[in-house]
Amino acid sequence: MNFWKRLLFVLVAALPLAAMQASAIPLDKVPKQTTDLVSLQHGAKVFVNYCLGCHAASFMRYTKLQELGLSQKEIEDNLLLATDDIGTTMTVAMDPVKAKDWFGVNPPDLSVIARALSGPGGSGADYVYTLLRTYYRDPTPPTGWNNLVFPNIGMPHPLWELQGEREPIFAGEGDKKVFTGRWKQVTKGTLTPVEYEETVADLANYLAWMAEPVQNKRIAIGVWVMIFLFLFTLIAWRLNASYWKDVE
Ligand code: HEC
Repeated sequence: MNFWKRLLFVLVAALPLAAMQASAIPLDKVPKQTTDLVSLQHGAKVFVNYCLGCHAASFMRYTKLQELGLSQKEIEDNLLLATDDIGTTMTVAMDPVKAKDWFGVNPPDLSVIARALSGPGGSGADYVYTLLRTYYRDPTPPTGWNNLVFPNIGMPHPLWELQGEREPIFAGEGDKKVFTGRWKQVTKGTLTPVEYEETVADLANYLAWMAEPVQNKRIAIGVWVMIFLFLFTLIAWRLNASYWKDVE
C-alpha cells in the first residue's frame, strides 16, 4: 500500500470516532466561562440536585468543590446527599441494575462527560447545553420524551419541571421537515425561559469544569510560560548580538 492509500485508510477508520457526537442539529455554544465561580457554584447545585439521582461522577470528590469558593459547611449543608460524606466521591443514588431495567441503557458516569462528548460540532459542554434545551414531549418513546440533539434518547427530560413542556416548530413535511429553531411553550415551567437558559448554561459550565478541574490553573500557567518564553527569546537574542558584536 502506498502512503496516500494508507493515510486514507487511517482517516476512514477514524471516522466513527469523529461521528461519536453526531448531533442532529448544530450545537449552541455555552455562554459561560469556567473561570466564573458564581456560575460554577450554581451549576454544581443543579448537578447534585437533578443529575446524581441517576448518574454518578465517581472521579469527583465533594471536597473538591471548595475550589469553587464554597466552604466545607456550605457543601455539607447544600450539596451533600444525605447518604454521603464530604470526603466521598459523587456516587449515584440509583441502583445501576434497576437503571438498566428502567431505561434500557445505563446512565453514563458524568465525571468527564464534557470531554468524552466533545467533537467536531463543539465541546462536550456545548453538546449538553444544547441537549438540555431541545427536549419535547413525544408519546412514542417509552420515556414520553424526545430530543432534537439525540433522537430517541433513553434519558427522560431531567429538568422538565424547570423548563415546562415545549414543542419544536418544524417547516415542511415528511423527509423535508426541518427545525426552524423556534419553539412553542406548551406548559409553563417553574423558571422563566431566560432563567432556564442561564441554569443550563451554568450546569454545562460545571460539567466542563468537572471534566478537568485543573484547567483554569493550566491555562494560567500556560500564559506565564508563553510570557517567559517571549522574554527569554528577547534576552537570548540581545545577548547573542552583544557576544558577537566585536567578531567580524
Ligand atoms: C431519570 C434518570 C436520569 C436523570 C435524572 C438524568 N439522566 Fe442523564 N441519562 C440517563 C440515561 C438513562 C442516559 C442514557 C441515554 C441513552 O444513551 O439513550 C443518560 C445519558 C446522559 C448523557 C449522555 C448523552 C449522550 O449523548 O450519550 C448526558 C450528557 C446526561 N445524561 C446528562 C445528564 C445531566 C446533566 C443530568 C442532570 C440535569 C441528567 N443527565 C439527569 C438518565 C438520567
